[in-house]
Amino acid sequence: MKVLALNSSPRSQGQSKTELMLSHLVEGMKKAGAEVEIVNLREKKIKPCTGCFACWTKTPGICIHKDDMSAELFDKYRRSDMSVFASPLYHYSLNSVMKKFIERTLPMNEPFFVKHQGRTHHPVRYPYPKTVILSVAGFHEPEIFGPLSAWANYVYKDVLAAEIYRPGAEAMAAARHGKKVKEILAATVKAGKELTETGRISSETLDKVGRQSIGDLDNWSVVANLVWKTCIAEGITIKEFEERKIVPRPDDIQSFMQIMAMAFNPEAAGQIKACIRFVFSGGVAGCCHLAIENGRVQGHAGDPETADLTVYTPFETWMDILTGKADGSALFLENKYRAEGDIDLLADLGRIFARP
Ligand SMILES: Cc1cc2nc3c(=O)[nH]c(=O)nc-3n(C[C@H](O)[C@H](O)[C@H](O)COP(=O)(O)O)c2cc1C
Repeated sequence: MKVLALNSSPRSQGQSKTELMLSHLVEGMKKAGAEVEIVNLREKKIKPCTGCFACWTKTPGICIHKDDMSAELFDKYRRSDMSVFASPLYHYSLNSVMKKFIERTLPMNEPFFVKHQGRTHHPVRYPYPKTVILSVAGFHEPEIFGPLSAWANYVYKDVLAAEIYRPGAEAMAAARHGKKVKEILAATVKAGKELTETGRISSETLDKVGRQSIGDLDNWSVVANLVWKTCIAEGITIKEFEERKIVPRPDDIQSFMQIMAMAFNPEAAGQIKACIRFVFSGGVAGCCHLAIENGRVQGHAGDPETADLTVYTPFETWMDILTGKADGSALFLENKYRAEGDIDLLADLGRIFARP
């Protein structure tokens, strides 16, 4: 089986979740014996359809444009047995790059109006390949793919082999090595195998790909919002944020505890059993404590019964240390904050809590 896998994400270099999902789907297809070509549409020159209908009249089956679509892609598309449209969800639909490709497949049809099963359509000039829609989105609710799914089912009714939707896809980056993400990617490989072997994907596999939530969504949203705020404050893009391995800056005690929980490194913590209390002053005043035990950490608002270490600090000073803007040891010597209790534990904090 010949498969043409089209990827319309403008992003690459490990940032694109469309690419991540598509590469796993293709892995499964190849394992099952399919001959697959991946085309990154961002690298191709595809002019928009001008609506002249020359491909229906003056030069039947041939578009007026001289670009990569006319030179190679249209032919590859019409000769494939299966085509995968892999697109990020933009404004609840395929993105414009993919839409431009699809609009340029107009020569696949003839101009005439024919009624079939109560629906007007244009007869096909060339048989359509089986169609697979793959899309990823930022929001977490599976319902966000409803409009795209309705469109795909209307347009590709007879040839639609499968729809693969992954909501909350951006969360896959933060949890890249987590169990859930591994399961989702393994299910995506399985989906590729099933597609090749049976022409469809079982609902069980589709559920594993698209219905599993990656983590605590409320927690994820808080952290995602801190990432946006940090990017705005620093005047940088998300890509720059990731490349520079910047730590999102907490802006209240709740988000501080969430970032600390994400930063917690169980291996570094080992058998440590300790309670660390923070007493914040300044713009964000209040206290909280982090309880470390059995390779886990739990954040709680308020005072603990007893603490092994208490850090008294202006909130912003500690956030400067946490985000790497200031040196914790230097500020300690300068009395910008103070600590009581197990000072060795204080020195160990940078190791126990690594960058999330
Ligand atoms: C212009 C634009 C529109 C978007 N619209 C939506 C949307 O309607 N719903 C949604 O959940 N995510 C939306 N997103 C988020 C993307 O779907 C998400 O970031 C996805 O991971 C992008 O795919 P990529 O990682 O392959 O580039 C939008 C992103 C952009 C840049």
